[in-house]
Amino acid sequence: MAGSPSRPRAPIEPFRIKVVEAIPDPSLEVRVAALERAGYNLFNLQSEEVRIDLLTDSGTSAMSDRQWAGLMLGDESYAGSRNFAHFESTVRRLTGFPHVLPTHQGRAAENLLFSTLCSPGTLVPNNMHFDTTQAHVRHAGAVPVNLAIAEAYDTRSEHPFKGNVDLERLAALLESEPPGKVPLVMVTLTNNTGGGQPVSLENLQGVSRLAAAHSIPVYYDMCRWAENAYFIRAREPGHSTQGIAEIGRAMFGLAEGATMSAKKDGLVNTGGFVATRDPKVAERLKEALILYEGFPTYGGLARRDLEAIAIGLEEATELAYLEHRIGQVRYLAELLSRAGVPILLPPGGHGVYLDARRFLPHLQPSELPGQALVVELYREGGIRTVEVGEIMFAGTVGTPKGVEPLELVRLAIPRRVYTSRQLEFVADTVIQVFLRAASVRGVRMVARPERLPHFTARFAPLPPVTAPAR
Ligand code: F0G
Repeated sequence: MAGSPSRPRAPIEPFRIKVVEAIPDPSLEVRVAALERAGYNLFNLQSEEVRIDLLTDSGTSAMSDRQWAGLMLGDESYAGSRNFAHFESTVRRLTGFPHVLPTHQGRAAENLLFSTLCSPGTLVPNNMHFDTTQAHVRHAGAVPVNLAIAEAYDTRSEHPFKGNVDLERLAALLESEPPGKVPLVMVTLTNNTGGGQPVSLENLQGVSRLAAAHSIPVYYDMCRWAENAYFIRAREPGHSTQGIAEIGRAMFGLAEGATMSAKKDGLVNTGGFVATRDPKVAERLKEALILYEGFPTYGGLARRDLEAIAIGLEEATELAYLEHRIGQVRYLAELLSRAGVPILLPPGGHGVYLDARRFLPHLQPSELPGQALVVELYREGGIRTVEVGEIMFAGTVGTPKGVEPLELVRLAIPRRVYTSRQLEFVADTVIQVFLRAASVRGVRMVARPERLPHFTARFAPLPPVTAPAR
């Protein structure tokens, strides 16, 4: 039981529940049939086939009563809506970036930024690109280069800031490339690909210094910036008495601009923005925005959505909210760690990541252990997760020499959605699969799309393994 000496304590919810949504409980028979129909790719499942949906923390948050009330204040004017004014002033206050352009989600902001700043053959360094970020850099003809510190690749390392950029590797890259070859440096807060791991303020200062020496702008992928700021407050000396917004201002003060998916730390179901200090870049972004997204005072969103974002961005900086949010991730991680389940340590801001290679040591990389585990967790308990490994990140540039790429399964926790008891069910399901791990079969890809394969690929199970049970 939660709270007994043998189990860690679940964080107390800083909210009470006003509306509930029933969740399905598909039978084993339904789950087995669904897997086959879906080609063993959980993106192809219907939501009624899923019991606990940990596919993503993106756009899956529960909005607050204040946000729902904000929707009713929607001023659906095409231009100059008061909701845009509220949204713009909120983003300006939190980030200090004067030019703020709304988009329908994060990848639209990425498209605008990379198509504006990058040209074919240029390089974009980052701690680690996430899937759509990497794809958009490539779409602009540039090469995404991952420069996370070596500890980021070691799931057992308890380094407090595993999202940090390797400043030596960044310095070497910037020294060796001719002017113009690196149009911007990105930093992803937190590093989703590497386990939702934070970047320290000290590291952001280092990145800013190096980039400034080469007159290169730094942009943040700030999807989970409030979670990142929470870890700075908790782990970096000198910040424990500061508020999240104050730490945020210190972080953003070191950057030229940012892309944001408000579906994460904006606590909404859709929305995003791109922001910058550079008026010339802002003008070019605006032209592209009007072409692809909409007029700059709505950017492809309903104006009421901008109101919900403005409120959500503020709520995401509240300490009580973040303590519960990150406490839930830590709680699930502790339940799993205590049972010996190999997870990426320390647990990150938005989810628990299983180390699929250590979970299924009998499987070869070609047997796709990450996807095999995703399939098995669903079969066992109707839990939907996602592989973050060989399939999602094939061909990634910048993994340090001699280091094995990460092969993870992400259990992303939607914000304010599941109770701690539901997380205990998740832990029990993972532990059940862990106890019979040696019987888990690998999978192979039978249909491989060229770009972003994890979304639409189809898989087939490999023949049963003959290894003895653990
Ligand atoms: N950057 C990061 C670090 C992300 O995690 C995501 C989305 C995006 C950019 C793109 O934002 O979805 O609004 O277009 N990540 C989701 C996830 C999909 O599951 O982690 P978007």
